[in-house]
Amino acid sequence: MVFVLEGLQWGDEGKGKITDYLASHMDIVCRHQGGNNAGHSLVVNGVRYALKSLPSGIINPKIINVIANGCVVNLFSLIEEINTLKEKGITNFNLYISSRAHIIMPYHLDLDGAYEELLKNGKIGTTKKGIGPCYSDRASRLGIRVGDILEPEYLKKRLEEILPIKNLTLRMVNKKEYDLEELYNKLISLKPILEEHIIDTSVFLRKAIKEGKNILFEGAQGAMLCLDNGTYPYVTSSSPLANSVSINASIPPQSISKVVGIMKAYTTRVGEGPFVTELNNEIGDTIREIGHEYGTVTKRPRRVGYLDLVVVKNAIEISGTNYLSLMLLDVLTNISPLKICTHYELDGKIIDYIPSTISELNRCKPIYKEMKPWKENISKIKDYASLPKETKEYISFIEEYCNCKVAFISVGPDRDATIIKEDIFNDW
Ligand code: GDP
Ligand code: IMO
Ligand code: MG
Repeated sequence: MVFVLEGLQWGDEGKGKITDYLASHMDIVCRHQGGNNAGHSLVVNGVRYALKSLPSGIINPKIINVIANGCVVNLFSLIEEINTLKEKGITNFNLYISSRAHIIMPYHLDLDGAYEELLKNGKIGTTKKGIGPCYSDRASRLGIRVGDILEPEYLKKRLEEILPIKNLTLRMVNKKEYDLEELYNKLISLKPILEEHIIDTSVFLRKAIKEGKNILFEGAQGAMLCLDNGTYPYVTSSSPLANSVSINASIPPQSISKVVGIMKAYTTRVGEGPFVTELNNEIGDTIREIGHEYGTVTKRPRRVGYLDLVVVKNAIEISGTNYLSLMLLDVLTNISPLKICTHYELDGKIIDYIPSTISELNRCKPIYKEMKPWKENISKIKDYASLPKETKEYISFIEEYCNCKVAFISVGPDRDATIIKEDIFNDW
């Protein structure tokens, strides 16, 4: 059976926690897009793990973890990430990296930074991890792939062809040029460390599907950061939607059994771009402090707002989400007034969709449904029935508006702080 987990908002919905929680039911956990712009936090037995490129099944020694074709990988940062895990005692893990995934090269980081500076007020607010320039090179056929480090002669030839073009661009944006021999040696030095992990994951995954293995595809980022469906240009450079799994992992679309959409009980966004329900007030500050809403990767304070169901429903409808996982619900205890955005007002018209242009989105004003707040601490509650009446009303409103059941309710960062509302494993 093949599960896809996707973020329904602007990322940081709690994908890492729920992936780790569901990993015990899985044989394989696979990241299919993005790179180390992602920051997925999991808390297991009180220990916090901050994963960037590694799939969130990595803490579980029984799971095979895969970084698929659609990802971009900073191999140097990946090795650091693996070493950090080892320092925390996680030495027994299984990892495969796709030979077809693209390498984030050092010059991609320089170019990411340079473009942001040159854009001035128009900057995207990227994580500066080289994601955009790496995906651009992939599309321009100027990329270096993970499998290339296993083929020294081919790697040299590719660098001889590509590096002069990259150096030309670097010169134009006043950045230091790269020496071919030095860069080649740096990449080749990774071969003995990583070669046992590099395979054609597309072949591996299709075989696993035929054998009936349970596979979970873990999306990074969120639907509103999707290159095609998000708030362009304030987006990332891949598609976090379930729709993209098939191409990113080279598996048939029909093999996907269930799509689980991950949403926060409120909304956050990091970086620039429109955010209709943003709260630049005391309520926003309170949610930020209680929810520890500071970036895992860049440590930036996250922008915070009320739950925007126009955003959530948009993602559900594009991706055919079957179930929701409602995260960080505990953070809303004592938040008053408590509101959910159901529509936007755009130039005097009431709409329930995301306008395609940034200028229209910037003119949208939220229309709210006022919800009843609750005061009880819900972080120790283990079953749905024990939740306060008002909390259940909040959940039911989401389900009815989105026409989609909430399967999991997360009431704390720890693996155990999870309430199961629907049994998705018996609903194939
Ligand atoms: P991801 O990028 O989608 O994996 O999410 P992040 O890890 O960037 O951000 C989610 C944050 O919320 C992390 O610090 C998690 O430990 C934390 N978290 C996840 N679920 C819950 C929850 O139900 N309650 C609380 N209070 N924190 C949670
Ligand atoms: P996870 O997987 C939140 C945002 C950046 C920026 C935009 C483009 O932890 O949910 P990029 O570096 O990708 O070119 O930046 O996308 N962004 C994220 N925001 N969570 C993430 O990942 C993000 N990955 C990228 O802040 O606005
Ligand atoms: Mg994150």
